Amino acid sequence: METRSIVNNGMTKNRYNQCCTCTVPDPKLMDGGNYIKEGRDSSKSTCLIFSPKEDDEPGSLGRYLKLFAKHKVNLLHIESRSSAREIDGYEFMVECAPGGDLGKLIETLREQCGYFSIISRNHKDNLGTVPWFPGRLKDLDRFANQILSYGSELDADHPGFTDPVYRARRKYFADIAYHYKHGEKIPRVDYTPDEIATWSVVFKKLTSLYPKYACREHNHVFPLLIENCGYREDNIPQLEDISNFLKDSTGFSLRPVAGLLSSRDFLAGLAFRVFHSTQYIRHSSRPLYTPEPDVCHEVLGHVPLLADPAFAQFSQVIGLASLGAPDEYIEKLATCFWFTVEFGLCRQNGELKAYGAGLLSSYGELEYSVSGKPELRSFEPAKTALQKYPITEYQPIYYVAEDFEDAKEKMIKFAQTIPRRFGVRYDPYTQRLNIIDSKHQIEDLVSNVNQEVQILMDALRKLKD
Ligand SMILES: [Fe+2]
Repeated sequence: METRSIVNNGMTKNRYNQCCTCTVPDPKLMDGGNYIKEGRDSSKSTCLIFSPKEDDEPGSLGRYLKLFAKHKVNLLHIESRSSAREIDGYEFMVECAPGGDLGKLIETLREQCGYFSIISRNHKDNLGTVPWFPGRLKDLDRFANQILSYGSELDADHPGFTDPVYRARRKYFADIAYHYKHGEKIPRVDYTPDEIATWSVVFKKLTSLYPKYACREHNHVFPLLIENCGYREDNIPQLEDISNFLKDSTGFSLRPVAGLLSSRDFLAGLAFRVFHSTQYIRHSSRPLYTPEPDVCHEVLGHVPLLADPAFAQFSQVIGLASLGAPDEYIEKLATCFWFTVEFGLCRQNGELKAYGAGLLSSYGELEYSVSGKPELRSFEPAKTALQKYPITEYQPIYYVAEDFEDAKEKMIKFAQTIPRRFGVRYDPYTQRLNIIDSKHQIEDLVSNVNQEVQILMDALRKLKD
């Protein structure tokens, strides 16, 4: 008998246990290409960015520094630099040590300076701070040592718990991910005959169901994966090959992950079109069951959809919405992710089809989800985000999306309800996030959009000629 396969990737045990004490290159510095020196105690220091008022005299920094002394706040680092918000403007970045009356200092500074922002490394200090998030693609390297459990640590009820060979293998995979750095090739793995036999059972079973139950997009991409990435019954495809295929298709890439990531970190990867993927396979004693994401879940469930442009955009919208969002909204976004990317259904030509990876990697739940037994509701992010769900049994409720474009538009609207004092935009040319919080930046971006529109209008005119 098949048992339910898979929970989502990096989003289960830790859903209510966010991990946000990260070491920081300041996201505000993304545009200028400068770097903030890392703090000595990254979990406690707080970074402030402020600019002088327009009518400030030169040398105003001294006046501001006196406020730090007055409130007994020590500085670990200070720098002055050109402003991303104002032409010819400049601003100061200071990293404050714990201690002193930081709250009072912030209050006073906010009143007396021009631009003011707090980028915290410890956002649970009630200072109205923005939780840290990666500013550059390269910053995702920091997640590798922020995992909530290492891949070789198995629960007592895991099918491989008492198998020393399997446990050693899991450590091998976890080590690959732990040492992986941005820009490197994902190491190729020589899967053992035992592992390939497990894959073979899963591959054969699921591929027999896809024509009937999988959505159009999944069925469109799957033959391309067979052709380009070595998807075969007798071969476990390599993450490196898949990642290259995805880069060509939608700009998504895979990163190996050593264990569970916090929801915040996992979602942040999506903002960069990066999907954190496991590389190990489930235990051979129960090939149709796994209590956690494994390579079958990732490459059969997630990957085909990540190669679809509309779905890729939808995933990135969730990721961008998560950046700097308060914890309660991270939970809501993770829930939307659960009911879409993991367990989503859609309607195509009047029939229910699966696009969620948790369904597409579980033959029992795939059939069950469209059987008419479970409750179906329309995907409405504001409502879906509040729905509780079980993680160890089939879902009692599934949410149905009209299509990915529609789901994306709804997510964008939902994202606008997240309290955040800035906009975020990913720049694929520089692989950096632009934080938009000034008119000057918006004017520049509008000018860029205008240029794009002119290119399109020109192309349209040529078509009409
Ligand atoms: Fe997943």
